[in-house]
Amino acid sequence: MRKFVPVSFFVVLLVIAWTSACKKDTIDPGEWQPVGFSVPPGWPQPFYNFENNSLTFDGFALGRKLFYDVRLSRDSTISCGTCHQQFASFAQAGHDVSHGVDDLLGTRNSPGLANMAWSTSFFWDGGVNHLENQPINPIQNPVEMDLKITDVVTRVSGDADYRARFKKAFGDETVNSQRIFRAMAQFMGAMVSADSRYDRYVANPSGNYLSESEKHGLQVFRQHCASCHKEPLFSDFSFRNNGLIPSAVNDSGRAHITRDAADLYKFKVPSLRNVAVSAPYMHDGRIQTLEACVEHYRSGVHASPTTDVLISGGVVMSDLEKDDVVSFLKTLTDSTFIHNQLFAEPK
Ligand code: HEC
Ligand code: HEC
Repeated sequence: MRKFVPVSFFVVLLVIAWTSACKKDTIDPGEWQPVGFSVPPGWPQPFYNFENNSLTFDGFALGRKLFYDVRLSRDSTISCGTCHQQFASFAQAGHDVSHGVDDLLGTRNSPGLANMAWSTSFFWDGGVNHLENQPINPIQNPVEMDLKITDVVTRVSGDADYRARFKKAFGDETVNSQRIFRAMAQFMGAMVSADSRYDRYVANPSGNYLSESEKHGLQVFRQHCASCHKEPLFSDFSFRNNGLIPSAVNDSGRAHITRDAADLYKFKVPSLRNVAVSAPYMHDGRIQTLEACVEHYRSGVHASPTTDVLISGGVVMSDLEKDDVVSFLKTLTDSTFIHNQLFAEPK
């Protein structure tokens, strides 16, 4: 059974529930209300199946608290939200590779987390295939949060507010890793970003949502980029080599998971939604600006046996076309999403 409730309705319900819940530390049972998840018009069905983990206000609110809780890291300094910042569409602004506990560096750039419900795999190499199996990786990773999941369960279950929230979300106070991951999946799964100027334009092409140059940029984008960065999610979720020169750490990408030489240096095609606010770019954050990203396709594509044939010869674009593609990419910013208090750190 799938509920077709308009997004606005879903948001309104959540807002009503939220504003009343915010006033108190714990949530009143009377305010406990299920919320619907709906697919924006023209979008495919999500890959994540909420039927196995019903999205409720309390599950969502618990997931949000966990997401922003630094106690989920060894030294209580790092939360998921440290590396996934809302104003950057939940990427980590200004960091080429992620910074975890003790200021230790990872080797990859923190990706944005909008529209995770549609993602068919997680991480740049697709090493995780289920949204609920994802959080254990950063929690236990020695250069990220570095805490054993059993210790997370101990810390969380020692907190009375959490126990009350688990009861609200799951029926009793039991804290276990599966419930932690399910609550986080509800929070992340509900992070839908579908209200950019591009979306308004697509819904109403005769409205004045895009300038002539942005519209031209969209045409050029559809010609050269959309086969991988497929609308409406702006990714086809495949793994491709877009011609970056292998980095100093020689990250092998998808081949790290499949051990297949044909997958060398292939990475998950990232969504470009909110891309203007999530610099730096690429799996290792090596590119700082959108202009330089587009220029990469024009003049920087490095040919190798696995470089994608769509771009291996370089993409032919005039200066005007390049500028217009950059302008178009900026129309993918959804300020409703990046300012939505529902996804912000709880006060
Ligand atoms: C130290 C920084 C850091 C912390 C803390 C962190 N992440 Fe991440 N996150 C990353 C990086 C880097 C990647 C990409 C890793 C890779 O591709 O190998 C990532 C990837 C992800 C992805 C997959 C996105 C995609 O499109 O593939 C999700 C979902 C995610 N993180 C959620 C979380 C959650 C939930 C937490 C808290 C439990 C968390 N992250 C904590 C840095 C971090
Ligand atoms: C053959 C598939 C393919 C085509 C065609 C393609 N891209 Fe990409 N794009 C990728 C992949 C794969 C990545 C990630 C590469 C990495 O990090 O190693 C990427 C990354 C990006 C990024 C960085 C996003 C981020 O969050 O880090 C931008 C911006 C981008 N592409 C824009 C474009 C534009 C503009 C075009 C058309 C000129 C284009 N792409 C064409 C596959 C493609």
